[in-house]
Amino acid sequence: MTSVLMCRPEHFTVSYRINPWMRPEQATDTRLALAQWETLHAVYRDLGFDVRLVDPLPGYPDMVYAANGGTVIDGTALTARFRHTERAAEGPAYGAWFRAAGFAVHQARHVNEGEGDLLLVGDTVYAGTGFRTDPRAHGEAAEVFGREVVSLQLIDPRYYHLDTAFAVLDPAGGPGAVAYLPGAFDDASQEVLRFRFPDAVVVSDDDAAVLGLNCFSDGRTVVHAPQAEKFAADLAERGFGTVGVDTAELRRGGGGIKCATLELRS
Ligand code: ARG
Repeated sequence: MTSVLMCRPEHFTVSYRINPWMRPEQATDTRLALAQWETLHAVYRDLGFDVRLVDPLPGYPDMVYAANGGTVIDGTALTARFRHTERAAEGPAYGAWFRAAGFAVHQARHVNEGEGDLLLVGDTVYAGTGFRTDPRAHGEAAEVFGREVVSLQLIDPRYYHLDTAFAVLDPAGGPGAVAYLPGAFDDASQEVLRFRFPDAVVVSDDDAAVLGLNCFSDGRTVVHAPQAEKFAADLAERGFGTVGVDTAELRRGGGGIKCATLELRS
């Protein structure tokens, strides 16, 4: 069964700017963010997911982006260590949740922003760097999880986390298991992606710009931003079920569906 961790956006707002999507000078609508998040939560329940919740901390508006709270594989949680002080306290908050939930917890030595930059495809972890996660954390993840880790270099500040430019469609892996935006990566990483995933879904700039790649899939159904129309059509053509959930208010913090979802792999 797919098990995920989420955090209700009770304190959601944009009060600082640590990525180009964030505009603290523009008012946000916390009620709208909550309503959109509740829809996502309900969709996951309908899909049969086991959905767990971590308490939101007042003063930490980005805590809704649970994907950044850590990385959990085989019952082991590698804690997050945030690049920016604005989010620093989220690491221990998620760490305490993992401990209380019975996961083996490995305290991170290097900066890593959880599943924002560390994504499991088959037996391999794909790891982003360039803006947030320290490349040394890639080696640390390889040690902690005993898996191959493939580093990918992000070069476009709008796609500062791997999960904004790269989506896992089939967690089991395979040549078409992912979707990505080539232009978010440097040439060497594009080469790696072409080699490893010759049948990947390559998305358009327009679909990426609505954070279409920030989707969540259990391998059968992809929950995605409804604005990413061409991407959704491509997914349907490949036989995936598709469910559009609008989380546009959360996009104002620079995150979408995947950002709000941390997978718990026991
Ligand atoms: N405002 C947050 C930040 O910049 C957004 C995080 C989005 N999360 C993600 N997994 N991409 O850190």
